[in-house]
Amino acid sequence: MDMNVFIQTIPKAELHLHIEGTLEPETLFRMSERNGISIKYDSVDALRQAYRFDNLQSFLDIYYEGAGVLQNETDFYELTWEYLLKAKAQNIRHVEIFFDPQTHTERGIAFETVINGIFNALSEGSRDLNISFCLIMCFLRHLPESDAMETLSQALDFKDKITGVGLDSSEAGHPPSKFKRVFEKARKQGFLTVAHAGEEGPPEYIWEALQDLKVQRIDHGVRALEDKSLIKELKNRRIPLTVCPLSNIKLCVFKTIREHNFKKLFDQGLCVTVNSDDPAYFGGYVVENYLALQNAFQLTRDDIAQIAVNSFNAAFISQDKKDMFIDQIKKFAAE
Ligand code: ADE
Ligand code: ZN
Repeated sequence: MDMNVFIQTIPKAELHLHIEGTLEPETLFRMSERNGISIKYDSVDALRQAYRFDNLQSFLDIYYEGAGVLQNETDFYELTWEYLLKAKAQNIRHVEIFFDPQTHTERGIAFETVINGIFNALSEGSRDLNISFCLIMCFLRHLPESDAMETLSQALDFKDKITGVGLDSSEAGHPPSKFKRVFEKARKQGFLTVAHAGEEGPPEYIWEALQDLKVQRIDHGVRALEDKSLIKELKNRRIPLTVCPLSNIKLCVFKTIREHNFKKLFDQGLCVTVNSDDPAYFGGYVVENYLALQNAFQLTRDDIAQIAVNSFNAAFISQDKKDMFIDQIKKFAAE
């Protein structure tokens, strides 16, 4: 079997995906017209041209602006459904989806509009596309902790629909410790926890995510390599990293894919996973991220299978479900 087909068809999980980051320019235009929201680009092409970023913040500015076209439950439903169809075509069998309620509630969109649209599409995807899912609600770290507290209270009415909480948006200057209390409250309510850390921020932010927020997983975490004792900690505690290679290139965390430290993290024996982050903005979904790494580092089929196994081991699913998916990977890879 050709390597491209192997990557395309091996069962995979995606664990780091912002649903707002799957808003393709065509969909963005369609919704802007339908909802009468004007945008400052004349065409899909002009919008795509604007997707050149110098760093995380330059991306976030455009990403939050784009999210402004999402107005009603149907918009959130269609956004999610379109992503699920792409995931299905890449044989993604389980997704853990981030959503940022504050991006929408700040604009006067009700929390329930957002979550119902996303959740209904995910439920349908589970039934009709055989893609299992969980939802992770992220707090925007550039806003005060009090706003995150308010968002957490709103989420309590939808507790049965939300598996975990996370932390995203502008990392520099907004350390995880700023959100210690809200994460503590979330954990008491039974939410699992993750946080973006060590994307642009220093290894200390990863330590804080582990110690202050008591996260089960680190999103990105690529700067962990700068701290040997941190690598030891991540290894000993089997804390997974959800790495997003194409995102890191687009946001200039690494200049080129060959300079990415994925292979070094992988060779350390860490539980690293490969994900797409905001695929509509970064030029690729999960398969394109696997392919970029395979190309750059000449990854073998065993390496690819190990990355796919990691994706299920790192997922918020039962051990039985993990075993079932991993068994499918083993059988697939042995064919
Ligand atoms: N929100 C969406 N994508 C993000 C990223 N890569 N880092 C932080 N916040 C984000
Ligand atoms: Zn992210």
